Amino acid sequence: MSNPREPIEVADLDASLSKAARYRELNGQLAALFGGERSGMANAANLCALLYQNLPELNWVGFYFVQGGELVLGPFQGKVACVRIAIGRGVCGTVARRRKTLIVPDVHAFPGHIACDKASASEIVVPLLQKGRLLGVLDLDSPLLARFDQEDAAGLEVAAELLLRCSEFNRLVD
Ligand code: SME
Repeated sequence: MSNPREPIEVADLDASLSKAARYRELNGQLAALFGGERSGMANAANLCALLYQNLPELNWVGFYFVQGGELVLGPFQGKVACVRIAIGRGVCGTVARRRKTLIVPDVHAFPGHIACDKASASEIVVPLLQKGRLLGVLDLDSPLLARFDQEDAAGLEVAAELLLRCSEFNRLVD
């Protein structure tokens, strides 16, 4: 792993990049950032920071992990958030049940949406699936309506796969 006395350098992304190119760069940076580190907690935390700093128009990025049959808040960036979400409730709980990425262009039109930050207008949630087992979800919120599209879904699904491939989650999930 990197020398703890040296700051980890992650270059800012070129603002003129297309969305797909930006995700390719970000996912390359993520792979380098994870390095040989296997802690799911540490890698999930750095993933949140990297996305929050490098994707425009976000007000929240974070994880919920499956613990005791419900979703429990994990590492995140943004305002404080609700800690426990039942499977099937809200956008996160719906994704946990359906096990498919969900893009919500207007959270106020989503029945049962759980508002953690009243600035949130749109949301995307990606399931974390390892060999068919649901470990949790990755949730991004934006203050803009319809901020997320299929390119975001594709880029974030690659980021989630990278995280799962590089990390152990035994202590975060039960
Ligand atoms: N909006 C989510 C709750 C989590 S927060 O956005 C951080 C939902 O409806 O599940």
